Amino acid sequence: MKKFKDTFHLVFSYSKIFYRSLLLLWTSAPRETIFLTAALLLQGVIPAVAIWINKQVVDTVVATLNSGREFHIETLATLFTGWVSAIFIETLLPPWVEAAYRNLGEKLSAHINLQLMRKVDSFVDLIHFEDSRFYDELQIIQEQTERQSFNLIGGIAQAFPVFLTLITMLILLSGVSWWIPLLILITSLPQTYVSFKIQWDIWETMYEKSPQDRRMQYYSSMILTDTYAKEVRLFGLGSLFIQRYLEAFQDKYKAMQNLRGKQAFSLTGLSVLSASGNAFAFFWIVLQAMSGKVTPGSVLLFIQSLAYTQQNLSQLMGSFYLLQENLLYMERFFNFLETKSTMSVCIPSSPVPKPIKSGITFENVDFSYPDNRVAVTGISFTIKPGETVALVGENGAGKTTLVKLLARFYDPTSGNIFIDGENLKNLDLQAWRQQIAVVFQDFCRYSLTIGENIALGNLSAINNLEQLKKAAEKSGIAQKVELFPDKYLTQLGKQFDGTELSGGEWQKLALARAFIREEDAQILILDEPTAALDPRSEYEIYRSFSKLVRGKTAILVTHRLASVRMADRILVLKAGKLIEVGTHYELLHQGGEYAALWSMQAQQYQDTTMQS
Ligand SMILES: Nc1ncnc2c1ncn2[C@@H]1O[C@H](COP(=O)(O)OP(=O)(O)O)[C@@H](O)[C@H]1O
Ligand SMILES: [Mg+2]
Repeated sequence: MKKFKDTFHLVFSYSKIFYRSLLLLWTSAPRETIFLTAALLLQGVIPAVAIWINKQVVDTVVATLNSGREFHIETLATLFTGWVSAIFIETLLPPWVEAAYRNLGEKLSAHINLQLMRKVDSFVDLIHFEDSRFYDELQIIQEQTERQSFNLIGGIAQAFPVFLTLITMLILLSGVSWWIPLLILITSLPQTYVSFKIQWDIWETMYEKSPQDRRMQYYSSMILTDTYAKEVRLFGLGSLFIQRYLEAFQDKYKAMQNLRGKQAFSLTGLSVLSASGNAFAFFWIVLQAMSGKVTPGSVLLFIQSLAYTQQNLSQLMGSFYLLQENLLYMERFFNFLETKSTMSVCIPSSPVPKPIKSGITFENVDFSYPDNRVAVTGISFTIKPGETVALVGENGAGKTTLVKLLARFYDPTSGNIFIDGENLKNLDLQAWRQQIAVVFQDFCRYSLTIGENIALGNLSAINNLEQLKKAAEKSGIAQKVELFPDKYLTQLGKQFDGTELSGGEWQKLALARAFIREEDAQILILDEPTAALDPRSEYEIYRSFSKLVRGKTAILVTHRLASVRMADRILVLKAGKLIEVGTHYELLHQGGEYAALWSMQAQQYQDTTMQS
């Protein structure tokens, strides 16, 4: 009973998913859907019409021969026209069905991708990206989108006419004798049921083993893509990754191979059953014909429709496999669309103060990433408007985390951030982010033009060459840009046949992107902005920095202390805690962590200058 209930439940929930998939298909391309449905409908009923005409032809001929009368030319003409039209439509349809299938598939695939993109874009925070399960799920869905879009339509395009044909054939057969269709159905049911069940196990195993698939892909990309080419060669990693690929493959393959064997075995066994059913019906109809109880046309109809029925049953099974696989995918896709954003956005929100008057305050802020390791804890400080603050500390101290909290990519695990006394959570998030110009440590390299790379910081400047130049000037890339023949229209990135820049040049572009935003933004944040720059560029950026940030609130994140002396105040972080606050000289006097770091770096600096 429980098993029956479970099966019922399963059928019900997958019917719902199928219905939603059809709706999705409809919304992605209504016109094409209508066209395809009409074409498939025709395709489904034509075989039955053709067979029925055949039967009429044979019976008319036999009747005419037996009676010795003249044949009716009208009857012949009607049958002939019907027969030719059926054949004509049957051969005419496939190319159109094929075209509609391709068109629909492409549209559906783009539609699904767009929905995925819109969904992920709607998450205002970054927490989801830290969650590996979420990320895996997204990857699986995205990788399969195109294949599964075609599976859905292909499955329907196969199953729908085949199903119609099957029904019409069974109706035709029931005209010969009522129990024939019943016998055929009963003897082929076990085969159908078992093969579905095994196919289900196959899909489930495939999804279970999908991490292996991703591993295989990952290992092969290690060897086949340029990103890893240098290290793979230098460290001789080729055979290691090939070995790992093989291991992942074996694990997946063994499970699948077993199931496929099981499937083939039970199908062979059960096909004996359905063949016997057919043989029995065949034997019976021939006997009937011999004793004159059915017409020769009916024998022809029987033989033809039986052949169709057999063929259609197995085709139907094949297309149900496609649909079954597709439903599992669609289930994931629809579930994904229901993912809730973890960050609550306050509506109505408070306006962002312009300008900020009393400052930005962190009050007892704790934050842990989803892996539950504490990144920062007990952080309290205030940045006054117009102040330049340096955040210093060793790698992993929590500097970038504080910047991300300020941009509200995450909410603090506990504690609060206030802007002019208003909780950051209550501010209009979009408007708040517009106040921030930031260069992240892991800034982006866009395969767009130089001008676009800068203008992304402030899209209204995309056609304003003056503004682009000014930003490029500030970040020290302007001269270099002038050397390219296409200047600001130069395409960057190898993906689209563009020019490649050095790490430092890319970083300057990222800086320019922040600077072009800075006219509107009140807060400028540079997170290790000079890590990829040579010492001269670094020096120049910092020298012009104080000029650039005049009147702005600026946060400068770095672990290189030489560049933070000009800051109004220095916050020293260590292992997620704020341990010292003061000016450069105050902190040196204090003789704490900062002083220790300073003397260590000064020592290193001296060593390198002496060596060179
Ligand atoms: N996305 C993340 N998921 C989990 N832990 C992270 C993540 N980013 C940073 N951390 C951890 O948080 C701590 C602080 O990192 P971060 O703020 O990047 O330091 P810093 O910028 O000072 O080098 C480190 O221990 C780091 O390992
Ligand atoms: Mg960092």
